[in-house]
Amino acid sequence: MLYGADYNPDQWPEEVWDDDVRLMQEAGVNIVSLGIFAWSRIQPAEDVWDFAWLDTVIEKLHAGGIAVNLATATASPPPWVSARYPETLPADESGASYWPGSRQHFAPSSPIYRRLAGELVRRLGERYAHHPGVVMWHVGNEFGCHLWMDFSDAARDAYREWLEKRYTTVDALNDAWGTSFWSQRYGAFDEIFPPRLAPYSHNPSSMLDWRRFTSDMLLECYLMEREILLEAGATQPITTNFMGPFKPADYRRWAPFMDVIADDCYPDPANPHRVRDAAFQRDLIRSLKPGVPWLLWEQATDAVNWRPANAGKLPGALVAETAQSIARGADGIMFFQWRQSRAGSEKFHSAMLPHAGTDTRTWDAVTELGARLAALPELPAPGRDAQVALVFDWENWWAVEERDHPTEVDYLALVLEWYGAFHARNIQVDIVGPEEVDDTYRLVVAPALYLLRDDGAAALARFVHDGGTLLTGPFTDIVDEHDHFRDGGFLTQLGPVLGLRFEDFGALAGSAAGAAGVGALSPDAVLAARRAAAEGTVTFGLDGAVYRSRLVAEHVHATGADVVAAFDSGPRAGSPALTRHRYGAGEAWYVASVPVSGGPATGSAGDALGAVVATVVAASGVRPVVEGLPAGVEAARRGDLVTLINHGETRVEIAIDGTDAETGVAVDRVVLETQGVAFVTAPVAASPGADPSVAPVADVMPAAATVPLP
Ligand code: GLA
Repeated sequence: MLYGADYNPDQWPEEVWDDDVRLMQEAGVNIVSLGIFAWSRIQPAEDVWDFAWLDTVIEKLHAGGIAVNLATATASPPPWVSARYPETLPADESGASYWPGSRQHFAPSSPIYRRLAGELVRRLGERYAHHPGVVMWHVGNEFGCHLWMDFSDAARDAYREWLEKRYTTVDALNDAWGTSFWSQRYGAFDEIFPPRLAPYSHNPSSMLDWRRFTSDMLLECYLMEREILLEAGATQPITTNFMGPFKPADYRRWAPFMDVIADDCYPDPANPHRVRDAAFQRDLIRSLKPGVPWLLWEQATDAVNWRPANAGKLPGALVAETAQSIARGADGIMFFQWRQSRAGSEKFHSAMLPHAGTDTRTWDAVTELGARLAALPELPAPGRDAQVALVFDWENWWAVEERDHPTEVDYLALVLEWYGAFHARNIQVDIVGPEEVDDTYRLVVAPALYLLRDDGAAALARFVHDGGTLLTGPFTDIVDEHDHFRDGGFLTQLGPVLGLRFEDFGALAGSAAGAAGVGALSPDAVLAARRAAAEGTVTFGLDGAVYRSRLVAEHVHATGADVVAAFDSGPRAGSPALTRHRYGAGEAWYVASVPVSGGPATGSAGDALGAVVATVVAASGVRPVVEGLPAGVEAARRGDLVTLINHGETRVEIAIDGTDAETGVAVDRVVLETQGVAFVTAPVAASPGADPSVAPVADVMPAAATVPLP
């Protein structure tokens, strides 16, 4: 287990470096990410290079048994770069320059930036590729974190080249962008500009390519550095730090070029959904490289500095959040940063070694965590432990959130809601692209898959045909990879699988919803339906209860599907809300609206999304990691390792047979205080009543009973 932090010794006089190494040893640190923002120290002027200080630091760390993840230091060009080469500066939508004085002030497609950065990387590579203390390379830093869209002239030129490579002829581009609309037909590639400030909406197909291009430019920077390191003889793993579900960069395209996936995660203590959101992030990161443990490359020991209000973590949350990463596949736990800065924008950001010193709650937590991680045995690789896959796709994210649609969709928020219904039930989920869906899963959930590529559609259809269960809708299968409607209407790919024909979107907007009849509801339900309609929701009945749903109430016709629930209110009253269709050996479910999530388990203000998920889960035979856990206890499986985390406010006791992974002692129950964590080695057991022929993945734990404590 790697344990450590970003280390910025260039912010400190040499006198503290020995102290740093000593305290790192005390905390159990075994790796640091070194020199991420050290370009101006390494190359103070174009023809001046200073590696002596870096040599000294690396030697000291190496002698102290601390491995180095050496940064390429290209994320913040020094002032001389911006002054001498202003063409390296990025521009905003209006063409105005971004200026230096912060960080990440470079145009990713600038050939001059790439030349200068490349030279720095080459020298670092040649000097340290064979240093025994350097065990990994950290390329750039959080590519695109502050600046993910550059509209500069460098971007313009690169965009034209990128488009020409993609389409070869301008006619092919005109077709792909549908430029017959609004007189947008291009005669040559050099008539094309980045989507700079325009009077009204840009062509949506061009916006999709612009998104692809901007992600690719960041990736090209990473790949350029990687290539240079390899040419310099580097044999260590090369990576960069991801930021979870980060819209500007399609990490699924990046992942094959990362030797190991590293991720930065900063759960917001003020976010009531922080546990769910962080779990999703970690599952997404794990799923980018199945079977390979990933590294939590940055988290905070306590408060950050960059939110409007920066509350600290709850007592114990540091261990609980760390455990969540390990549970979901991490083999490294790192922080930003080792020693708290004494100057600069991040001086209020927490660190492993706080400015207030070692007689602090933070230092205690950090040393305790180090000891606990050191006690862990070698952990199993995260396997295919999930029976459920949630489809999450960057191109779809970009397309579905373009403007001029029936209604605005917050794709990530929607995906998180769906994920949350599984997370709350401790049902393990992989996060995959549509093309990655295969029969190792039992249930696949695909919310708002507006842009559906042909291969993705084929994979989903095959999955159902071969016996899987698909749950999808609404706003799914609307456009192809160019953001064009396909011939033949909507649901052209999945309609036969779903047994549905799609007629209309039915966006819900405030009081317009619920205008039509309310059906045979009780007076209370009618009242609830009216209230709901005023909020832009409609209702549907499921298993004798009435639930609300929002965003859209689509008009679909069952052409083979069974109608499990119909809308009771709103413009679609009487038409299907939830359908189920047998297709091949499997089943496909469609929900024609977004069920409202949260609230009590039943009732018109109840957890509609939870009710739909529970229905489909029951039908598909999917099981949780551990049965019958009390609310607030999170469980995840990683091969033989089951991690239990109590996010609740009371102490719980959980019956589970296995071995305590930290002590090696056999257990039949664990007691968890609030924020308490247990790592239990508990080999996969056969699921009671499950048919192994339809349970191809690592399955479920023996049922655990909850014993309330006095
Ligand atoms: C990001 C960066 C770090 C630092 C932290 C602060 O993750 O990579 O350099 O700025 O944020 O939280």
